[in-house]
This record gives sequence, C-alpha cells and structure tokens, in this order.
Amino acid sequence: MSGERELMEAVRSAAELIVSSEYVIALTGAGISVESGIPPFRGPGGIWTKYGEPPPDQYQEFLRDPKGWWERRLKRELEGPTGEMVRKIYEAKPNLAHKALAELEEMGILKSIITQNIDGLHQKAGSKNVIEIHGNIYKLRCISCNARFDRDKFEIKELPPLCPNCGGLVKPDVVYFGEPIPPDMLNASLLEVYKCDCMLVVGTSAVVYPAAGFPIAAKRRGAFLIEVNPYETSISHICDVVLREAAGKALPLVVQEVRRLLARR
Ligand code: APR
Repeated sequence: MSGERELMEAVRSAAELIVSSEYVIALTGAGISVESGIPPFRGPGGIWTKYGEPPPDQYQEFLRDPKGWWERRLKRELEGPTGEMVRKIYEAKPNLAHKALAELEEMGILKSIITQNIDGLHQKAGSKNVIEIHGNIYKLRCISCNARFDRDKFEIKELPPLCPNCGGLVKPDVVYFGEPIPPDMLNASLLEVYKCDCMLVVGTSAVVYPAAGFPIAAKRRGAFLIEVNPYETSISHICDVVLREAAGKALPLVVQEVRRLLARR
C-alpha cells in the first residue's frame, strides 16, 4: 500500500487526467466489490486461491446435459466454492467505490462502466450505463436468441427451462468458463473501449480475456490508463497513474479532487 503522500499525488494526477479527457470509462473487476464483503477470485482471499479454478469447460458441461445440470443446480446452488460467493453477493451492498463511480457518471464525466462482476452493485449504487460482460446473477438468458429474463419473474415450468420467445435453452445469465461472451455485451464493450480516451481500471487482475485486453487496446489508441488496485497486476506497467490502494478509499478521493478541479475552472 502506498504512503499517504504518494497516494495523494497519484489522486491529483488521476483527477487531472480525468478532467482533461473527453470520454472516460471504467473497467471493473471483483476487487471493487471486496469492500462489500464479496471475495475476489484470485490473490489474497480469492475463492479460486482457496479452492482452485473451476473446470475450463463449465459451459460444455451444461450443454452436454442441460436437464441434469438444472436438476443439480436447483438442488445445490448455495453449496461449494461458488455457493459461498453467491451467498455473499445476495447479502452485499454497494460500497464507497461503487458510489464514487456512480457520482462520476452523475457529473457527466464517466460515460460507461464495463464490469466483469455479476453482482449488480454498480446499478444498485446508481450507475446507469453498465455493461455486464460476464452477465448478472439475478438474470437468466436464452443461449439461442440472447433474450434475458429476471430470474425471480421467470416461471420454470420444465427442465431444462426453454425460452418463451424462441424455444431455445435458458441458463443463468452468468457467463461460464468456455462460454462465448454474449455478442451484444461484447460489441457494446468494444465500442466503449474504442471511444474512450481515459480508462479507470479498478479491481481487476486483468488475466481473463477479452476484458483483460481492453486496457491494452485503449492504451494502443492513446488513451490514458488509471489503475486502482492495492496489488500490482499484469497491466500496472502500462498505466499512466497507479493508485496502489483499495478502491473504497482511493475512488472517493479522486472524485473529491475532480470536483475541486472543476470548481476552479
Ligand atoms: N480495491 C481494489 N482492488 C482490489 C481490492 C480492493 N479493495 N481488493 C482486491 N483487489 C484486486 C486484487 O488485487 C486483484 O487484482 O482485485 C483484483 C481481483 O482480481 P480477480 O479476483 O482475478 O477478479 P477479476 O479480475 O474480476 O476476474 C476476472 O475471472 O473468474 C473469472 O469471471 C470471473 O469476472 C471474473 C474474471
């Protein structure tokens, strides 16, 4: 963790880049929800660190036997490693980092958030333009027509559940290992990466593609990168500013400094 002086210097530099940019976006990962009580996947306290990564063919396992998959799923959603994470997600509330990004959007500065998180906490904090590239735990999705449904409002009449629109297979909206990113989310993300001239990279280890490639693509196009992460990551070295701090502490300081700079204009 950096000293207070270094942190404040980095906060000032980050705020200056933000106010001098035209199109600021954020890429967020599990780390932004750690202070809401949801464990990350990797690094200290990560569930994959504790239990090991899940099989890379989770999606193929679903496709092999969707009925059997759903029968097992309905019996033991809250068991095992992901069960621990699911319980924490259901209990979680947005933290100061989520609220700081919602404030930046409210100020007309942050144009969008591409999140790898499935917890819906950005929306609960008030953010409107959120692209959930790995899906949302509270939704179901048809893998044929990509229609999404509120999980609580979708009546499961048979197993596997079928899409009321096209009869296709319905699964949780959460994107599993081995599953293609839904095309609408991927296209929306790529457009934002293309348009941005400044990207806040918050709470991600930047190891899972395609999201991990977004900061690199933005940098290649000349965008500024600002990393918010208490630990070094595989993209720290290409970032213009690094806030080596928890997001819940660093982001409110950045918003405060942005407000100060805007007031001086
Ligand atoms: N504030 C900011 N960052 C934090 C904090 C915090 N308080 N606590 C931890 N971090 C950082 C860690 O240092 C790590 O770099 O958050 C990052 C979390 O990394 P991962 O657990 O790998 O999460 P993420 O990058 O979102 O994973 C990407 O992998 O398992 C898949 O689909 C899953 O969406 C997930 C994807």
